[in-house]
Amino acid sequence: MSENILDKFKNAPADEKVRDMSKKIKIGIIGTGWIAEAHVKAYQKCPDVEIVAAADLVLGKAEAFCERYGVEGDVKFFPSHKELIDAGICDAVSVCTYNATHAECTIYALEHNVSVLLEKPMCVTLEEAVAICKAEKASKGVLSIGFQPRFDENMKMLKRVVQSGELGQIYYIQTGGGRRRGIPTPFGTSFIEKETAGIGALGDIGCYSLDMVLNSIGYPKPLTVSGYKSDFFGKSPSYEHHDVFGVDDFAAGFIRLEGGIILDFRIAWAMNLDTPGDTIIMGTKGSVRVPSTECWNGSIGGPLVIYHEIAGEQIETYIPMKENDVDCFDIKIRSFVDAVKEDGEAPVPCSQILYNQAIIDGISRSAELGREIEIEIPEI
Ligand SMILES: NC(=O)c1ccc[n+]([C@@H]2O[C@H](COP(=O)([O-])OP(=O)(O)OC[C@H]3O[C@@H](n4cnc5c(N)ncnc54)[C@H](O)[C@@H]3O)[C@@H](O)[C@H]2O)c1
Repeated sequence: MSENILDKFKNAPADEKVRDMSKKIKIGIIGTGWIAEAHVKAYQKCPDVEIVAAADLVLGKAEAFCERYGVEGDVKFFPSHKELIDAGICDAVSVCTYNATHAECTIYALEHNVSVLLEKPMCVTLEEAVAICKAEKASKGVLSIGFQPRFDENMKMLKRVVQSGELGQIYYIQTGGGRRRGIPTPFGTSFIEKETAGIGALGDIGCYSLDMVLNSIGYPKPLTVSGYKSDFFGKSPSYEHHDVFGVDDFAAGFIRLEGGIILDFRIAWAMNLDTPGDTIIMGTKGSVRVPSTECWNGSIGGPLVIYHEIAGEQIETYIPMKENDVDCFDIKIRSFVDAVKEDGEAPVPCSQILYNQAIIDGISRSAELGREIEIEIPEI
């Protein structure tokens, strides 16, 4: 392995941001279920943040949540996102609701110029994603989408490898992943019911696999998709929640992207297989393999391998795994707070995730129609 090659992908200089901690921002938490805990714990590490409000549709849930996680001070509680925003006390909110209410909560906040950190997936349909992007464009608020693996050092390295040009022109990508058995029902059935989740594995963990590769190659526009989805495991009588299971537990798609790139994707909450394969990004000068990865847990499954030719020899370059100095979730929260305070750029902009959602929506619609479809994204 040549040191010169690895030198090409060296880290950017470390973040040495100087922050004015006397300028505080007021945060509200909308939806106080499972993931809200990670938001609150990360906000509690920011001395320039005050959590001033929490809302949940379930009576008393927000109060119990704040007590459990030691959210102190003058916190106000509300029965839904609307009353919280109408109170006019928040500079920014974390939208931690189930997928089906992501769009209404986010749009309402942005319409009131309140910044939003929106949990993944962005929403359920492309139509909702377009409405979110329009609301963001018209708002003074910042909107960032909650993809914490973006901040993982190995994910960043994957992007640097692709962006370095070492692979040449990218023409084929395979990505996805999944679990042998892992339909998520951590605290109830909000991930698997149609009314609350809207989409299953396709949106829940599929959005991460898509973001990993699309972010690496610069988010080209998706053009067409042939999709498939199924629910054999969720609907099986042997699964305890089969009576309420209303989404996909497996999905696959073959997507044409702008720039002549083909994306071959599959994702599973449950399957009779250990893994549906590694992620690969193939280019005219080299290809990179990302060993089969649970990228929804934040990182890659092993060292990246670049397959290329050097001085006429076919060479494999292994990129050593990197440690994260700071937890990715903490960076997701900190970078959002910085963007709100400085009216800065969203760390994960909706203009990119719009294409992620367009693919998810396209797979779903193509699967229902039983044929390939064109992905049409209206002007924002
Ligand atoms: N980034 C991550 O690592 C990660 C991990 C888990 C979940 N998530 C995402 O976070 C979201 C929430 O997941 P969860 O497991 O916390 O769900 P959950 O069902 O445990 O909690 C969602 C809460 O939102 C509340 N809610 C819904 N609509 C509301 C509204 N309009 N106003 C106020 N409250 C409302 C519900 O009553 C519920 O208590 C999902 O979209 C999921 O995909 C992200």
